[in-house]
Amino acid sequence: MSEQKIKRGRFITVEGVDGAGKSSQIQVIAETIRNRGIELVITREPGGTPTAEKIREILLSEPMSPKCEALLMFASRQENLDKVIRPALAAGKWVLCDRFTDASYAYQVYGREQPKEWVDELSDFVHHDLQPDRTVLFDLDTDIAMKRLERKLDRFESENSEFHKRVRKGYLKLVEEQPDRFLVVDSSKPKEEISQLLQEEFSTWD
Ligand code: TYD
Repeated sequence: MSEQKIKRGRFITVEGVDGAGKSSQIQVIAETIRNRGIELVITREPGGTPTAEKIREILLSEPMSPKCEALLMFASRQENLDKVIRPALAAGKWVLCDRFTDASYAYQVYGREQPKEWVDELSDFVHHDLQPDRTVLFDLDTDIAMKRLERKLDRFESENSEFHKRVRKGYLKLVEEQPDRFLVVDSSKPKEEISQLLQEEFSTWD
């Protein structure tokens, strides 16, 4: 039997400062893609597999050194890549991941002010052959974003306003470096307007 080569699926990631409203819009992106008859797997980081979700619990609640934090983010990422992301892409499915390595640059490098080399080296070690094809960045003034978070805050969300400002700056720097990969969404716009923009983008993008 001749083996047919399956075309690798598309890898889409979603990013933003805490409180920028990405969670609700992820569903809009997913629905738009699935309406095209494309098989889509949704996952998140840190997390995405039972083991990686345990790492997430530790990351969001336990005190730790910045280096340990960076390593655990990539440990979780390795698990998610091995068990969820790579198998899905290899089978021709698309993957929509709620945060990926851009978050490690924004939070660990810019937010925590740790060396960029750490994330360069870890991302090279964990996924040198795979980068997101498209990344949606939900961008919002961080003071407004923090006011939107009404639930109990985790270890990252409860960082001070300067931390969140640095994270936002980090994301915008990444956009400057790779403008073609990013779709920047102005999260101060009405929800319906954002949903419509995403529907337009993902009803045709590939
Ligand atoms: P997220 O799932 O977006 O939080 P929530 O579901 O509470 O909205 O992300 C969890 C936190 O982890 C978020 O504050 C950002 C942080 N994070 C990093 O610091 N580095 C990373 O590499 C990733 C993936 C997330």
